[in-house]
Amino acid sequence: MVSGPNDAQLRERAKKVIPNGMYGHQSTRLLPANFPQWFSRAEGAYLWDVDGNRYLDLMCGYGTNLFGYRDERVDEAVATQLAVADNMTGPSPLMVDLAEQFVSMVSHAEWAMFCKNGTDATTMAVTVARAETKRRHVIVAEYAYHGSAPWCTPIPAGVVPEQRAHISSCVYNDVDSLDEAVAAAGDDLAAVVVAPFKHDAFQDQALPDPDYARRARELCDVSGAMLIVDDVRAGLRVSKDCSWESLGVRPDMSTWGKTIGNGHPISALLGSESCRRGAGDIYATGSYWFSAGPMAAALETLRLVRETDYLEHTVALGKQLRIGLDDAAGRYGFSLHQSGPVQMPQIFFQGDDDFRLGFAWAEAMSAERVYVHPWHNMFFCDAMTSEDIDFALAAADRAFGVVGGTLDSIEPHPVVKTLVGGT
Ligand SMILES: Cc1ncc(COP(=O)(O)O)c(C=O)c1O
Repeated sequence: MVSGPNDAQLRERAKKVIPNGMYGHQSTRLLPANFPQWFSRAEGAYLWDVDGNRYLDLMCGYGTNLFGYRDERVDEAVATQLAVADNMTGPSPLMVDLAEQFVSMVSHAEWAMFCKNGTDATTMAVTVARAETKRRHVIVAEYAYHGSAPWCTPIPAGVVPEQRAHISSCVYNDVDSLDEAVAAAGDDLAAVVVAPFKHDAFQDQALPDPDYARRARELCDVSGAMLIVDDVRAGLRVSKDCSWESLGVRPDMSTWGKTIGNGHPISALLGSESCRRGAGDIYATGSYWFSAGPMAAALETLRLVRETDYLEHTVALGKQLRIGLDDAAGRYGFSLHQSGPVQMPQIFFQGDDDFRLGFAWAEAMSAERVYVHPWHNMFFCDAMTSEDIDFALAAADRAFGVVGGTLDSIEPHPVVKTLVGGT
């Protein structure tokens, strides 16, 4: 099955005027054939493709949708601000309000800088660390995603080795490998960048081992390097503070994006006193970084974070889905591996090394009008209800039946097959 006629027509037009018809993580190149590429509308927990099909969206805009698409409270705050000003020759007072609010909510933070995308924030964090320490080397975990800039893009076409010269990797949650990477960096270590938990594409997720987190802090303290928690994806989804606060580990900097404006374009770098000077020394800016509309969105989103039970609600929905999916899969003789926090689930079939079952199931779910992802973690939003999860579970039941009924004819996705080394 392929996507609808309007989608197909747009793909044809796009092929001529957009490289590859679409680029980056929102391209359907690595998704099942019936996944729509183009969408026309979104509301609450749902989105509509250009052929008018409505989907329950378990991707939530790759994590940007926390309270629901077009949440009235957030969008009203934006509309009120837009009625007076958005992008100007200088920032509005909202920037100071927002910095005060955010810093008061995140325990390690003493200062804030705002930008647009997660990549802006992670790149700025690394630059601040180098400016503060006057050193060059940065350690990341292998497979971890920190954005699409030359220093961190997972597909380094067009990147020259010099742009990655002072970056090395360790294995997430492996203390020995972190020790080795730090030792190898010698007295040139500027920063260790960590994801709050292992949330890599195509991999099972893993919660952070507290010993690993504590060791990362200790090594940075001893060497004078900066510890950076990249909370762009998980921020405000697993905690209302920095995600490592519950482990008792405070970074020097944390990076934020996605959720903080509930879909409006804004990201942030928060930092502690340890690197305020470095943050002041770097040159960082962008034509749209100081727009007032997204700052109004972030202020309202942060208010909702403080004053509502969205976190408990999304955890409850996540549990409902996890338990229900295990039951449904079992009825058809499948065994799932569901990993990570329930509200940010990664859902794989056991032993499905080339992802063929996952793709077939996601395709069947798409036909049922539930948008699930075959190799990326998913998200919940506060606008979802228990009835929405019942709807997803009923769809999943039928989708497992479809996969079970066509097992012999399921082929692995041609591109994914080459990525995971399948034959
Ligand atoms: C952990 C993490 N860091 C950084 C980024 C980059 O964010 P953006 O796509 O907004 O540049 C992402 C995006 O998915 C992410 O998940």
